[in-house]
Amino acid sequence: MKIAVLPGDGIGPEVTRSAIRILAEVGEMAGIQVDLTEHLIGGTAIRETGSPFPDETASACVASDAVLLGAVGDPAFDNSKPEERPEKGLLRLRKALGGFANLRPSRAYESLIGSSPLREDVFRGTDLLIVRELLGGLYFGEPRGTSDREAFNTMRYSTAEVERVACVAFEAARVRRGKVTSVDKANVLETSQLWRRTVDKVAKGYPDIKLEHMFVDACAMHLVTNPKGFDVILTENLFGDILSDEAAVLTGSLGMLASATIGGNIDLYEPVHGSAPDIAGKNIANPLGAIASVAMLFRYSAKNESCAKAIDDAIDRALSEGYRTVDIAKDGCRVVSTDEMTDIIARYAVENAGASRAYHAV
Ligand code: IPM
Ligand code: MN
Repeated sequence: MKIAVLPGDGIGPEVTRSAIRILAEVGEMAGIQVDLTEHLIGGTAIRETGSPFPDETASACVASDAVLLGAVGDPAFDNSKPEERPEKGLLRLRKALGGFANLRPSRAYESLIGSSPLREDVFRGTDLLIVRELLGGLYFGEPRGTSDREAFNTMRYSTAEVERVACVAFEAARVRRGKVTSVDKANVLETSQLWRRTVDKVAKGYPDIKLEHMFVDACAMHLVTNPKGFDVILTENLFGDILSDEAAVLTGSLGMLASATIGGNIDLYEPVHGSAPDIAGKNIANPLGAIASVAMLFRYSAKNESCAKAIDDAIDRALSEGYRTVDIAKDGCRVVSTDEMTDIIARYAVENAGASRAYHAV
Protein backbone atom coordinates (compact mmCIF):
# COMPACT_ATOMS: atom_id res chain seq x y z
CA MET A 1 0.00 0.00 0.00
CA LYS A 2 1.21 3.45 -0.91
CA ILE A 3 0.44 5.83 1.93
CA ALA A 4 1.03 9.57 1.80
CA VAL A 5 1.78 10.83 5.30
CA LEU A 6 1.13 14.50 6.12
CA PRO A 7 2.31 15.24 9.68
CA GLY A 8 1.33 18.93 9.54
CA ASP A 9 1.58 21.30 12.50
CA GLY A 10 1.86 21.35 16.30
CA ILE A 11 1.52 17.86 17.78
CA GLY A 12 0.77 16.51 14.28
CA PRO A 13 4.34 15.26 13.68
CA GLU A 14 4.56 13.55 17.10
CA VAL A 15 1.29 11.67 16.91
CA THR A 16 1.91 10.82 13.26
CA ARG A 17 5.28 9.31 14.15
CA SER A 18 3.39 7.07 16.60
CA ALA A 19 0.76 6.22 14.03
CA ILE A 20 3.18 5.22 11.28
CA ARG A 21 5.15 3.08 13.65
CA ILE A 22 2.01 1.07 14.44
CA LEU A 23 1.10 1.02 10.75
CA ALA A 24 4.48 -0.35 9.72
CA GLU A 25 4.80 -2.91 12.52
CA VAL A 26 1.28 -4.29 12.33
CA GLY A 27 1.41 -4.22 8.53
CA GLU A 28 4.62 -6.21 8.57
CA MET A 29 3.09 -8.84 10.87
CA ALA A 30 0.21 -9.20 8.44
CA GLY A 31 2.47 -9.36 5.40
CA ILE A 32 1.21 -6.02 4.06
CA GLN A 33 3.98 -3.96 2.56
CA VAL A 34 3.50 -0.29 3.33
CA ASP A 35 5.33 2.30 1.34
CA LEU A 36 5.29 5.63 3.24
CA THR A 37 6.22 9.06 1.91
CA GLU A 38 6.01 12.31 3.88
CA HIS A 39 4.71 15.59 2.53
CA LEU A 40 4.04 19.13 3.71
CA ILE A 41 0.70 20.61 4.67
CA GLY A 42 -0.64 23.46 6.80
CA GLY A 43 1.47 26.10 8.52
CA THR A 44 4.64 24.08 8.06
CA ALA A 45 3.98 24.05 4.33
CA ILE A 46 3.28 27.80 4.24
CA ARG A 47 6.60 28.49 5.93
CA GLU A 48 8.55 26.28 3.54
CA THR A 49 6.76 26.84 0.25
CA GLY A 50 4.34 29.73 0.69
CA SER A 51 1.31 27.46 0.18
CA PRO A 52 -0.69 25.45 2.77
CA PHE A 53 -1.20 22.70 0.17
CA PRO A 54 1.79 22.60 -2.19
CA ASP A 55 1.44 20.98 -5.63
CA GLU A 56 3.97 18.32 -4.66
CA THR A 57 1.73 17.27 -1.76
CA ALA A 58 -1.37 17.26 -3.95
CA SER A 59 0.17 15.04 -6.60
CA ALA A 60 1.62 12.61 -4.05
CA CYS A 61 -1.75 12.30 -2.31
CA VAL A 62 -3.77 11.61 -5.43
CA ALA A 63 -1.22 8.97 -6.45
CA SER A 64 -1.48 7.12 -3.11
CA ASP A 65 -3.81 4.40 -1.82
CA ALA A 66 -4.62 6.35 1.34
CA VAL A 67 -3.58 9.52 3.14
CA LEU A 68 -2.70 9.74 6.83
CA LEU A 69 -2.80 13.23 8.31
CA GLY A 70 -1.62 14.54 11.70
CA ALA A 71 -3.09 17.97 12.37
CA VAL A 72 -3.06 21.46 10.91
CA GLY A 73 -3.30 24.83 12.61
CA ASP A 74 -0.77 27.35 13.81
CA PRO A 75 -1.50 30.44 15.94
CA ALA A 76 1.12 32.38 13.95
CA PHE A 77 -1.50 32.63 11.18
CA ASP A 78 -4.41 33.63 13.43
CA ASN A 79 -4.79 36.96 11.70
CA SER A 80 -4.43 35.64 8.16
CA LYS A 81 -7.33 35.53 5.70
CA PRO A 82 -9.07 32.13 5.44
CA GLU A 83 -7.47 31.61 2.01
CA GLU A 84 -3.97 31.88 3.46
CA ARG A 85 -4.39 29.89 6.64
CA PRO A 86 -3.03 26.40 7.44
CA GLU A 87 -6.63 25.07 7.63
CA LYS A 88 -7.07 25.93 3.96
CA GLY A 89 -4.51 23.21 3.23
CA LEU A 90 -6.72 20.62 4.89
CA LEU A 91 -9.84 21.82 3.07
CA ARG A 92 -8.03 21.70 -0.28
CA LEU A 93 -6.76 18.22 0.55
CA ARG A 94 -10.27 17.01 1.37
CA LYS A 95 -11.60 18.42 -1.88
CA ALA A 96 -8.74 16.88 -3.90
CA LEU A 97 -9.33 13.41 -2.45
CA GLY A 98 -13.09 13.61 -2.91
CA GLY A 99 -14.18 11.81 0.27
CA PHE A 100 -17.54 13.24 1.30
CA ALA A 101 -18.37 11.06 4.32
CA ASN A 102 -16.34 11.67 7.45
CA LEU A 103 -16.80 8.89 10.00
CA ARG A 104 -16.13 9.83 13.62
CA PRO A 105 -16.79 7.02 16.07
CA SER A 106 -17.00 7.81 19.77
CA ARG A 107 -17.50 5.22 22.46
CA ALA A 108 -17.13 4.83 26.21
CA TYR A 109 -13.98 2.93 27.11
CA GLU A 110 -14.87 1.21 30.38
CA SER A 111 -11.45 2.03 31.81
CA LEU A 112 -11.84 5.74 30.98
CA ILE A 113 -15.35 6.17 32.34
CA GLY A 114 -14.04 8.18 35.30
CA SER A 115 -12.34 10.67 32.95
CA SER A 116 -15.56 11.63 31.20
CA PRO A 117 -17.06 15.00 32.12
CA LEU A 118 -20.39 13.14 32.33
CA ARG A 119 -21.72 11.16 35.27
CA GLU A 120 -20.79 7.49 34.99
CA ASP A 121 -24.37 6.27 34.79
CA VAL A 122 -25.11 8.71 31.96
CA PHE A 123 -22.03 7.89 29.92
CA ARG A 124 -21.49 4.15 30.44
CA GLY A 125 -22.48 2.16 27.36
CA THR A 126 -22.24 5.09 24.91
CA ASP A 127 -21.24 3.94 21.42
CA LEU A 128 -22.03 6.27 18.56
CA LEU A 129 -20.80 7.13 15.08
CA ILE A 130 -21.01 10.60 13.61
CA VAL A 131 -21.27 10.63 9.82
CA ARG A 132 -20.35 14.18 8.88
CA GLU A 133 -20.85 15.49 5.34
CA LEU A 134 -17.40 16.87 4.50
CA LEU A 135 -17.42 18.60 1.12
CA GLY A 136 -20.45 20.86 1.24
CA GLY A 137 -22.24 23.43 3.34
CA LEU A 138 -20.66 26.62 4.64
CA TYR A 139 -17.13 25.29 4.28
CA PHE A 140 -17.27 25.25 0.50
CA GLY A 141 -20.42 27.19 -0.48
CA GLU A 142 -20.11 29.95 -3.06
CA PRO A 143 -20.43 32.84 -3.17
CA ARG A 144 -18.47 33.94 -0.14
CA GLY A 145 -16.87 37.26 0.51
CA THR A 146 -15.85 39.96 2.84
CA SER A 147 -15.37 43.71 3.03
CA ASP A 148 -14.60 45.95 5.97
CA ARG A 149 -18.20 46.24 7.06
CA GLU A 150 -19.73 42.97 5.98
CA ALA A 151 -18.89 39.33 5.30
CA PHE A 152 -20.90 36.36 4.10
CA ASN A 153 -20.77 32.62 3.44
CA THR A 154 -23.23 30.40 1.65
CA MET A 155 -24.80 27.22 2.94
CA ARG A 156 -25.81 25.19 -0.06
CA TYR A 157 -26.65 21.52 -0.52
CA SER A 158 -27.89 19.59 -3.52
CA THR A 159 -30.06 16.49 -3.15
CA ALA A 160 -27.24 14.43 -4.71
CA GLU A 161 -24.81 15.56 -2.01
CA VAL A 162 -27.27 14.66 0.74
CA GLU A 163 -28.22 11.33 -0.82
CA ARG A 164 -24.69 9.99 -1.08
CA VAL A 165 -23.75 10.76 2.52
CA ALA A 166 -27.11 9.53 3.80
CA CYS A 167 -26.47 6.17 2.11
CA VAL A 168 -23.17 5.87 4.00
CA ALA A 169 -25.00 6.52 7.29
CA PHE A 170 -27.72 3.96 6.60
CA GLU A 171 -25.18 1.34 5.51
CA ALA A 172 -23.19 2.00 8.70
CA ALA A 173 -26.32 1.63 10.83
CA ARG A 174 -26.94 -1.77 9.26
CA VAL A 175 -23.76 -3.18 10.76
CA ARG A 176 -24.32 -1.36 14.05
CA ARG A 177 -27.57 -1.06 16.02
CA GLY A 178 -29.87 -0.10 13.16
CA LYS A 179 -30.68 3.52 14.00
CA VAL A 180 -29.93 6.80 12.22
CA THR A 181 -30.49 10.21 13.81
CA SER A 182 -30.42 12.85 11.08
CA VAL A 183 -29.50 16.22 12.55
CA ASP A 184 -30.52 19.51 10.95
CA LYS A 185 -32.09 22.91 11.61
CA ALA A 186 -35.18 22.37 9.47
CA ASN A 187 -37.20 24.80 11.58
CA VAL A 188 -35.08 27.64 10.20
CA LEU A 189 -32.95 26.69 7.18
CA GLU A 190 -33.98 25.83 3.61
CA THR A 191 -30.89 23.64 3.25
CA SER A 192 -32.04 21.66 6.27
CA GLN A 193 -35.53 21.22 4.83
CA LEU A 194 -34.02 19.80 1.65
CA TRP A 195 -31.71 17.68 3.82
CA ARG A 196 -34.66 16.22 5.74
CA ARG A 197 -36.76 15.52 2.63
CA THR A 198 -33.82 13.81 0.95
CA VAL A 199 -32.92 11.69 3.98
CA ASP A 200 -36.57 10.57 4.20
CA LYS A 201 -36.39 9.48 0.58
CA VAL A 202 -33.14 7.57 1.07
CA ALA A 203 -34.64 5.91 4.18
CA LYS A 204 -37.28 4.23 2.00
CA GLY A 205 -34.49 2.02 0.67
CA TYR A 206 -33.58 0.98 4.23
CA PRO A 207 -36.82 -0.24 5.82
CA ASP A 208 -34.78 -2.21 8.38
CA ILE A 209 -33.24 1.01 9.80
CA LYS A 210 -35.03 3.26 12.27
CA LEU A 211 -34.74 6.92 11.28
CA GLU A 212 -35.32 9.89 13.55
CA HIS A 213 -34.84 13.59 12.80
CA MET A 214 -33.48 15.97 15.41
CA PHE A 215 -32.70 19.67 15.48
CA VAL A 216 -29.04 20.41 16.03
CA ASP A 217 -29.58 22.35 19.26
CA ALA A 218 -31.55 19.47 20.73
CA CYS A 219 -28.85 17.06 19.56
CA ALA A 220 -26.18 19.08 21.38
CA MET A 221 -28.29 18.75 24.53
CA HIS A 222 -29.08 15.04 24.14
CA LEU A 223 -25.39 14.28 23.64
CA VAL A 224 -24.77 15.28 27.24
CA THR A 225 -28.03 14.13 28.80
CA ASN A 226 -28.49 10.79 27.03
CA PRO A 227 -25.56 9.90 24.72
CA LYS A 228 -26.54 6.22 24.85
CA GLY A 229 -29.64 7.13 22.85
CA PHE A 230 -27.57 7.60 19.67
CA ASP A 231 -26.29 5.02 17.23
CA VAL A 232 -25.46 6.78 13.93
CA ILE A 233 -25.69 10.58 13.77
CA LEU A 234 -25.92 11.90 10.20
CA THR A 235 -25.36 15.60 9.71
CA GLU A 236 -24.02 18.38 7.50
CA ASN A 237 -20.48 19.73 7.57
CA LEU A 238 -20.51 22.52 10.20
CA PHE A 239 -22.99 20.84 12.54
CA GLY A 240 -20.85 17.69 12.34
CA ASP A 241 -17.71 19.64 13.13
CA ILE A 242 -19.25 21.06 16.29
CA LEU A 243 -21.05 17.92 17.46
CA SER A 244 -18.00 15.72 16.92
CA ASP A 245 -15.85 17.79 19.30
CA GLU A 246 -18.64 17.50 21.84
CA ALA A 247 -18.99 13.74 21.31
CA ALA A 248 -15.22 13.32 21.42
CA VAL A 249 -14.65 15.00 24.75
CA LEU A 250 -17.33 12.86 26.38
CA THR A 251 -14.85 9.97 26.16
CA GLY A 252 -12.46 11.86 28.45
CA SER A 253 -10.25 13.58 25.89
CA LEU A 254 -10.37 14.98 22.40
CA GLY A 255 -7.09 13.11 21.90
CA MET A 256 -8.84 9.74 21.82
CA LEU A 257 -10.87 10.11 18.66
CA ALA A 258 -10.09 8.88 15.17
CA SER A 259 -11.69 9.60 11.84
CA ALA A 260 -11.89 8.20 8.35
CA THR A 261 -13.11 10.08 5.29
CA ILE A 262 -14.48 7.79 2.63
CA GLY A 263 -16.50 7.82 -0.54
CA GLY A 264 -14.04 9.59 -2.84
CA ASN A 265 -11.12 8.36 -4.90
CA ILE A 266 -8.70 8.21 -1.98
CA ASP A 267 -9.55 7.74 1.67
CA LEU A 268 -8.19 10.05 4.33
CA TYR A 269 -7.43 9.16 7.95
CA GLU A 270 -6.87 11.72 10.67
CA PRO A 271 -7.39 12.13 14.40
CA VAL A 272 -10.29 14.44 15.30
CA HIS A 273 -8.12 16.64 17.53
CA GLY A 274 -6.28 19.75 16.36
CA SER A 275 -2.62 20.77 16.40
CA ALA A 276 -2.57 21.69 20.15
CA PRO A 277 0.37 24.10 19.76
CA ASP A 278 0.53 24.64 23.54
CA ILE A 279 1.78 21.09 24.14
CA ALA A 280 3.66 20.53 20.86
CA GLY A 281 7.17 19.07 21.02
CA LYS A 282 6.84 18.00 24.67
CA ASN A 283 6.25 14.29 24.06
CA ILE A 284 3.06 14.41 26.14
CA ALA A 285 0.39 14.43 23.41
CA ASN A 286 -2.11 11.57 23.34
CA PRO A 287 -1.29 9.44 20.27
CA LEU A 288 -4.37 7.21 20.58
CA GLY A 289 -6.56 9.21 18.18
CA ALA A 290 -3.87 9.00 15.50
CA ILE A 291 -3.24 5.32 16.23
CA ALA A 292 -6.95 4.52 16.14
CA SER A 293 -7.03 6.26 12.75
CA VAL A 294 -4.52 3.67 11.56
CA ALA A 295 -6.93 0.98 12.76
CA MET A 296 -9.59 2.61 10.57
CA LEU A 297 -7.12 2.63 7.67
CA PHE A 298 -6.65 -1.12 8.02
CA ARG A 299 -10.41 -1.57 8.29
CA TYR A 300 -11.55 0.54 5.33
CA SER A 301 -8.60 0.89 2.95
CA ALA A 302 -6.68 -2.35 3.50
CA LYS A 303 -9.91 -4.28 4.18
CA ASN A 304 -8.01 -6.05 6.94
CA GLU A 305 -10.28 -6.31 9.95
CA SER A 306 -7.87 -8.43 11.97
CA CYS A 307 -5.16 -5.74 11.86
CA ALA A 308 -7.77 -3.11 12.75
CA LYS A 309 -8.92 -5.19 15.68
CA ALA A 310 -5.36 -5.92 16.78
CA ILE A 311 -4.85 -2.17 17.18
CA ASP A 312 -8.22 -1.41 18.77
CA ASP A 313 -7.71 -4.23 21.28
CA ALA A 314 -4.19 -3.01 22.05
CA ILE A 315 -5.63 0.42 22.91
CA ASP A 316 -8.26 -1.17 25.14
CA ARG A 317 -5.65 -3.26 26.91
CA ALA A 318 -3.21 -0.38 27.51
CA LEU A 319 -6.02 1.73 28.95
CA SER A 320 -7.38 -1.02 31.13
CA GLU A 321 -3.89 -1.65 32.49
CA GLY A 322 -3.87 1.97 33.59
CA TYR A 323 -1.48 3.56 31.08
CA ARG A 324 -2.45 7.17 30.46
CA THR A 325 -1.07 10.23 28.73
CA VAL A 326 -1.55 13.37 30.86
CA ASP A 327 -4.80 14.43 29.17
CA ILE A 328 -6.55 11.34 30.55
CA ALA A 329 -4.48 10.83 33.69
CA LYS A 330 -6.14 10.29 37.05
CA ASP A 331 -5.14 9.08 40.50
CA GLY A 332 -3.49 5.69 40.57
CA CYS A 333 -2.82 5.47 36.85
CA ARG A 334 0.56 5.15 35.17
CA VAL A 335 1.31 8.42 33.38
CA VAL A 336 3.29 7.83 30.20
CA SER A 337 4.72 9.99 27.41
CA THR A 338 3.64 9.90 23.78
CA ASP A 339 6.55 7.62 22.93
CA GLU A 340 5.98 5.29 25.88
CA MET A 341 2.30 4.92 25.02
CA THR A 342 3.33 4.15 21.45
CA ASP A 343 5.81 1.47 22.61
CA ILE A 344 3.09 -0.20 24.66
CA ILE A 345 0.50 -0.13 21.88
CA ALA A 346 3.05 -1.36 19.33
CA ARG A 347 3.96 -4.31 21.54
CA TYR A 348 0.34 -5.30 22.20
CA ALA A 349 -0.85 -4.71 18.64
CA VAL A 350 1.96 -6.77 17.14
CA GLU A 351 1.24 -9.51 19.66
CA ASN A 352 -2.47 -9.48 18.74
CA ALA A 353 -1.75 -9.43 15.00
CA GLY A 354 0.70 -12.32 15.41
CA ALA A 355 -1.80 -14.34 17.42
CA SER A 356 -4.46 -13.79 14.82
CA ARG A 357 -2.08 -14.78 12.02
CA ALA A 358 -1.11 -17.96 13.87
CA TYR A 359 -4.80 -18.69 14.37
CA HIS A 360 -5.55 -18.27 10.67
CA ALA A 361 -2.54 -20.41 9.73
CA VAL A 362 -3.81 -23.52 11.55
C1 IPM B 1 -11.87 19.11 12.02
C2 IPM B 1 -11.19 20.45 12.10
C3 IPM B 1 -11.20 21.10 10.72
C4 IPM B 1 -12.65 21.30 10.31
C5 IPM B 1 -10.44 22.43 10.63
C6 IPM B 1 -9.00 22.28 11.10
C7 IPM B 1 -10.48 23.00 9.25
O1 IPM B 1 -11.79 21.24 13.07
O2 IPM B 1 -11.40 18.25 11.24
O3 IPM B 1 -12.86 18.89 12.70
O4 IPM B 1 -13.28 22.29 10.70
O5 IPM B 1 -13.17 20.44 9.59
MN1 MN C 1 -13.35 20.21 14.19
